[in-house]
Amino acid sequence: MANPLAILPELESDLKRTEQELLQTVSSGVSFMTEVASHLIKAGGKRVRPGFAMASSSVLDPDGKPATMDVIRGGCAVELVHIGSLYHDDVMDDATTRRSVKSVNAEWGNLRAILAGDYLLGRASELAAALGTEVAGLLANTITQLCEGQILELETAYNPDRTVDIYERSISGKTASLLASACRIGALVNELPRPVTDSLTEFGLSYGMAFQIVDDILDIVATDEQLGKPAGNDLLEGIYTLPVLHALGDDRIADELRPLLTRDITSAQRDRARELIRASSGLLTALDVARGWADKAAGTLTDLPDTPAARALRAASDDLIVRASIPLG
Ligand code: IPE
Ligand code: IPE
Ligand code: MG
Ligand code: MG
Repeated sequence: MANPLAILPELESDLKRTEQELLQTVSSGVSFMTEVASHLIKAGGKRVRPGFAMASSSVLDPDGKPATMDVIRGGCAVELVHIGSLYHDDVMDDATTRRSVKSVNAEWGNLRAILAGDYLLGRASELAAALGTEVAGLLANTITQLCEGQILELETAYNPDRTVDIYERSISGKTASLLASACRIGALVNELPRPVTDSLTEFGLSYGMAFQIVDDILDIVATDEQLGKPAGNDLLEGIYTLPVLHALGDDRIADELRPLLTRDITSAQRDRARELIRASSGLLTALDVARGWADKAAGTLTDLPDTPAARALRAASDDLIVRASIPLG
């Protein structure tokens, strides 16, 4: 899957520099740590967060120019937090594939996945510290929010009565906070005016909400191959996301769906639950909510000049909804 900002002409060369910086940053004197910590970097990924840092940093430029090394480093710091969180998330979700390769926990076990995830957070913090106290504080707070979002999710696992409010608080912490920080760090590093910095942060937050809802829809409607990670895993792990919560409000299928949502759910029952949710009004309701957040994200950009980066960010929020709609046919 491509980076959603691919229409930006400098993105390709900036992302190449990002790859080099990521690998260099995680290099350790302990060669086994270098191997484990670089596993998911080498596996690829869309690099949405570095892309957002770069686009945000140049949102006032009438024509594109290469990102400064500090912007690249800011984007890498956020990407390393993201990758570290994926190491930990795959332990929590017992997931065996990630970015179309074996997950770190499947390859080396949970203990090494947890340690390497911590190591990535440490390296991310070192990068952020070199960019000044505001960036360092922001990155630290993002990790805090990520943990709060993840623990809220754990606390309500296997609870079909989990509320939409708890769901939104959880995804705001675990996902939207990181996208907001990617944008904010790009703006801070280039010292953009505060109102612009705040608008970009709002953009990232709203985009991040839409992004996680779309990921949750794709978990119900897409295949392992399309995602490069196990589809349908949320139901096995008891993570009842927005399409599931709204499907439970659809009287036509709720009586059959609800009893399937237990710790003992089998793969066959999971497949049936996915069918029921796909046929329910819940899926389209969740898509509408995602569209609302994507529109809100686009709305935060209206006061900005019409630059290539602003156009690319706007296009990314439209793209997200298209991506979720394709598997729905
Ligand atoms: C996956 O993020 C985790 C979520 C927040 C849904 P991405 O969809 O950005 O994953 P990569 O970086 O492309 O692998
Ligand atoms: C995003 O949530 C988790 C992180 C904060 C890393 P998911 O659990 O839905 O992410 P995927 O689907 O495993 O990528
Ligand atoms: Mg997961
Ligand atoms: Mg998911």
